Amino acid sequence: MAIAESRPAAVASLLARSRTDASATSARLVVSVPPDAIFFGGGLPDPMKYPTDAMTRVLVELLASSDHEALGYIHGAGDGALREAIAHRFSAQERVDVAADRIVITNGSSGALSLLAIALIEPGDVVLCEELTYPGALATFRQMRARIVSVPVDGEGMCTGELASILTQLDRERARVKVLYTIATCQSPTGTVLSAARRRELVDLADRFDIIVVQDTTYADIRFADDFPPELIALAPQRTVHVASFSKTLAPGLRLGWAAGPPAIIDVLKEIRTDLGTSRLLQRMVAQLISNGDFDAHLREMNAHYRSKRDAVVDALTWSRPPASWNVPAGGFFVWLVLDRDDMAAVEAAAARRGVAFFAAPYFSAGGGPEVAGIRLAYGELDSPRLVEGIRLLSDALSEAT
Ligand SMILES: Cc1ncc(COP(=O)(O)O)c(C=O)c1O
Repeated sequence: MAIAESRPAAVASLLARSRTDASATSARLVVSVPPDAIFFGGGLPDPMKYPTDAMTRVLVELLASSDHEALGYIHGAGDGALREAIAHRFSAQERVDVAADRIVITNGSSGALSLLAIALIEPGDVVLCEELTYPGALATFRQMRARIVSVPVDGEGMCTGELASILTQLDRERARVKVLYTIATCQSPTGTVLSAARRRELVDLADRFDIIVVQDTTYADIRFADDFPPELIALAPQRTVHVASFSKTLAPGLRLGWAAGPPAIIDVLKEIRTDLGTSRLLQRMVAQLISNGDFDAHLREMNAHYRSKRDAVVDALTWSRPPASWNVPAGGFFVWLVLDRDDMAAVEAAAARRGVAFFAAPYFSAGGGPEVAGIRLAYGELDSPRLVEGIRLLSDALSEAT
């Protein structure tokens, strides 16, 4: 008998229930979509645009070098050359002073979120999230038995007026509010950028109620305008952890991200990790791509590319006129479509009949917020003709269902 078949019930009973039950895991992240469907799916970059030539050049050089250091372990903070390159680039771009020793390299931004959750959250601690938000972060916080409290989002991002009321109420209840998790720049799924005024209000509230701000900037380097407001770490360096990723700018398969923040937190993240670091070879490769200018050149090209895809989606919506409203995002990978009616099951069925699939609002819900009938239109991965065809079919489906 195969080992996998023997006494499955007995083995299942040995699982750690507090971390493996459906509500605490990312099982919801897996959906089944027919292979030929036009799927406005994950927040994925365009696979035809990975910078493979530049990566190959640098990797060949690294592997040809005689000391083979790049093939060794790099435990703790991560490769010094990469942390220096990130610190230099980020400090110049955001006009902040983030030193390399305040940065830790992680297994994507999700690796940073996992380490932060272990370092910060005890069972019952409140984590404030946007309603709607990244389901992977919700799963990470729930695995640590956090109590998730959601804050509404409108066209300007998280509603800080509501945040103030929620914090006051939680204070009255004597709840232990630990973390505010926000995707303030190029939000997922709504595509919003938190306004400068609200950023100020958010960090003032974090100061007043003594909470740590975790800003997930996974999509923030994809931008189509110059006038983005300052990131939260520039406004409140003493209590903000800035979480970033190379998944959307270079390639998700590199599994490289980073976190920067107060030494009291970053030092703990370095100490508690048990993964023995991420690939040093790939860290060195990215360090070189940043220092030799290839990274920024690639990013400029990608921003023009994704801007044209965003425009293709918005133009297709404008001429196909579905019964819905939508935003024109200033960056990131998502147009957020809000339906005139909320019969999502009928919309999904009508779309499926036409071979179109998408993630809708419930997928991103932190729970407890007002129900919104929204669809996330991710334009990173699909090519423009498929995007346009998908919008045409989706608009037909929406007209039929509503
Ligand atoms: C908002 C957000 N944060 C974090 C992640 C994790 O990204 P990665 O671990 O690849 O950096 C994702 C993945 O799509 C995401 O959408």
